[in-house]
Amino acid sequence: MNPLEWKEDRVLILDQRKLPSQIQWVSAANAEEMAEAIKLMVLRGAPLIGIAAAYALALEARYPFLNSEKGLEYLREKGGILVQARPTAVNLKWAVSRMIRKAQEAYQKKEEIKDLLILEAKAIHDEDKILCSRIARSGVSIIPEGVVLTHCNTGSLATGGDGTAYGILKEGFKQKKITHVFACEARPFLQGSRLTAFELKEDKIPFTLITDSMAGHFLSRGKIQSVLVGADRIAANGDTANKIGTYSLAVLAFENKVPFYVAAPTSSLDQSIFSGWDIPIEERDPLEVLEIQGVRIAPEGVKAANPVFDITPARYIKGIITEKGVADPNSGGFKS
Ligand code: MRU
Repeated sequence: MNPLEWKEDRVLILDQRKLPSQIQWVSAANAEEMAEAIKLMVLRGAPLIGIAAAYALALEARYPFLNSEKGLEYLREKGGILVQARPTAVNLKWAVSRMIRKAQEAYQKKEEIKDLLILEAKAIHDEDKILCSRIARSGVSIIPEGVVLTHCNTGSLATGGDGTAYGILKEGFKQKKITHVFACEARPFLQGSRLTAFELKEDKIPFTLITDSMAGHFLSRGKIQSVLVGADRIAANGDTANKIGTYSLAVLAFENKVPFYVAAPTSSLDQSIFSGWDIPIEERDPLEVLEIQGVRIAPEGVKAANPVFDITPARYIKGIITEKGVADPNSGGFKS
C-alpha cells in the first residue's frame, strides 16, 4: 500500500491513525501542514517521514523568489520546521539536507530550482523503493530459516517500498525461508497490531500477534529463530534507536541465544553521533499511554511516561542489514 501521493499542489497522505478500521486520506499543501501531519503521526516510519519532508520542500518551491539568496533562506527555514517535527529519526534531517543541497546547486548553476526540487523529491521516493528491495535481498541471505519476531511497523506504510525489516519478512516468506511471523503490538501507539498485522494479513503471511510483554515467553521456549526490527537512527558505533521495547527484545534475544538483526537504509546511519547516548529520544503526550483510541484506561490524575524510542546497544546486534550489505557492528565493516 502506497501511503503517500504527490499531486503537484499538495501531497495526499493515508491517515495511519485510522488504520485498520478506516482508509482515509488527508492532504498537506505546505511545509507547516506536513510538519503537523508528521508530529501527529498521520504518517510515520523513519524513511517515510523523510520522503514526506522532501515532498513538502518541493511544494514550497512555488515561492516566487526561489532563485535567489532570499529564496534559499526561505527553504532552509521550512526545512528547519520539518526537521523539528520529530527528533529521533535521522532520515528527516537527511532528506531535508539533500533537498537544500539540491536547491543550492541549482541556484549556483542558474537552473530552475522548482522543477529540480520536484524531481529530487520523487527520486528520494523512488530510490527508497530500490533500497527496500536491496535490504530484503541482503537480509534473506543471512537470517536463519524459521520463525521471525518483529516489532512496530517497518513495511510499505513506513517506507517508499516493501519495507526494511518487513521487506525481508515478505521476501523470506516468498522464498519459503520464513515460515511464520510473531508481531509485537507495539504499545502505546499499536503500530504492530494496527499496521503490521494489517500488512501481514494483506500479504497472506502467517503470523501471530502478541503483546510486547509476551516476547520473552516465546523466545525462551525456542519458538523463534531470529528477531528482526527497523531503526530510526544508528550511531557510528552501531547503537540503534528504534521503537520503544526494542531494547528489551534485544536483551531477551541475547539471553536466549536468538540472533537479533536491525534492517535500515544507510540514510538511517548518523556518523556525527558516536554512541546511542547522544541520540535524542522523542517524548510524546502521556495521553497515548493513558488512553487507547480515546478511551481512558487508567484512573484520572495518574501520571504516565511516554518515551517512544529506546536505544539498543550494538553488543546485542548480530547484524545491521542495509542496501549495501550486512555490517557486524561488533567487528566493523560490511560483508555479503
Ligand atoms: O513512531 P514510529 O511509528 O514512526 O516508529 C517507527 C519505528 O520505530 C520503525 O521501526 C522505524 O521507523 C523503521 S521504519 C522502516
